[in-house]
Amino acid sequence: MNAFDPTIPPTASPEVEFISLTHLNPSTEINPVPARGIDLGYFRRYVEALEEGGYDYTLLPYGSSSADSFVTAAAVGTLTERIKPIVALRPNTTFPTVGAQKLATLDQLTEGRAVVHLISGGSDAEQARQGDYLPKDRRYARTSEYVDILRKSWTEPAAFSHEGEFYRFDGFGPGFAPYGSPIPISIGGQSDEAFAVGGAKADIFSFWGEPLADLRTEIDRVQAIARAAGRTDLPRIWVTFRPIIARTDELAWVKAHEYVARVAATFRNARFDRHGTPQNSGSQRALAFAQASELYDRALWTKTAAVTNAAGASTALVGSPETVAAAILDYVDQGASLVSIRGYDTLTDAVDYGRYILPLVREELAHRRATGQRGKLQAEHVGNYGAEYRQFATAGHVS
Ligand SMILES: Cc1cc2nc3c(=O)[nH]c(=O)nc-3n(C[C@H](O)[C@H](O)[C@H](O)COP(=O)(O)O)c2cc1C
Repeated sequence: MNAFDPTIPPTASPEVEFISLTHLNPSTEINPVPARGIDLGYFRRYVEALEEGGYDYTLLPYGSSSADSFVTAAAVGTLTERIKPIVALRPNTTFPTVGAQKLATLDQLTEGRAVVHLISGGSDAEQARQGDYLPKDRRYARTSEYVDILRKSWTEPAAFSHEGEFYRFDGFGPGFAPYGSPIPISIGGQSDEAFAVGGAKADIFSFWGEPLADLRTEIDRVQAIARAAGRTDLPRIWVTFRPIIARTDELAWVKAHEYVARVAATFRNARFDRHGTPQNSGSQRALAFAQASELYDRALWTKTAAVTNAAGASTALVGSPETVAAAILDYVDQGASLVSIRGYDTLTDAVDYGRYILPLVREELAHRRATGQRGKLQAEHVGNYGAEYRQFATAGHVS
């Protein structure tokens, strides 16, 4: 790493908000518990930990065999005062005017905290489980129409009809309105079609953790699409990691090697079995990064992606809280303003990140606001830019 430049990069986001993912029971990739379902006590403790830890949002993920994300989002809303539930919603599961109504209901119930993350579907087989047989490019075209209908359903003061490629209805509205300001719409996905819809229409565009230079290229790409669509309000950038932290970089690497062995064992057993090339571009990208190198930039580790076939968010940041906070700031410097972090030891990690990572990142951003310059965190915790860290990373290597 070159001599540290205290100048704040022009691409840097001045602010950052933190996202978690809500776990409904204690089962994890490092310690899978066979019984599926909601453990209410655990769920309650988890969201309370997020609220106490200072997170801003939590994602309620969606899959055909998961709990329903609308119902869990409503529960998050009633169990908390501040944290914003992000509902993962696949358009094929809910007619758009009904989706608008449900989201507006959640937004009213939570006094303006609802966010929606639209998922177009990354696997034909998974989509078919709930009767969706469209190919992926058409699924994104449907998502695009869905976004328009959501927004119109929330704002149109009179009844309206619609006849599009995927949806048709007559005389809907006025719909049930959100609490106040519009509900933010996020798009997940990394295929060209995801960029086209996200760049043109999303309030938020989301990524899984990638090497810095690659993410920068992708941010430029989505922003160029947004500008070409005539937008001045560019989509906010959300980036997701699975940090593995301990008191020191060395201890974090001991933990990381132990975790990856356990995660690999979990994915070898039948319940989590996922082989072959994934159909979604996000996983394909993560696997290509993993194949090219295990370590990138300050602290990005891809072995966790390799052993899980990059199913879901899987790239890790490994190190002390300071190193991981500095690595997060590297992404903030590239323009990320929403950072999702969830661990492998889910509840414990949520508590630890709230105690040790969020304050460091926020202190640095406060320092930047106060002085107009970067603070010392990134200069002092160099991670993989220094030789010592690399030794820890390769010591005790488990293949
Ligand atoms: C931050 C983030 C969260 C996601 N959450 C979910 C989810 O809860 N359920 C799901 O099926 N896909 C989820 N996805 C996956 C993609 O949205 C989905 O596979 C995509 O629509 C198709 O992938 P592609 O455009 O990369 O090919 C998520 C993606 C990102 C980036």
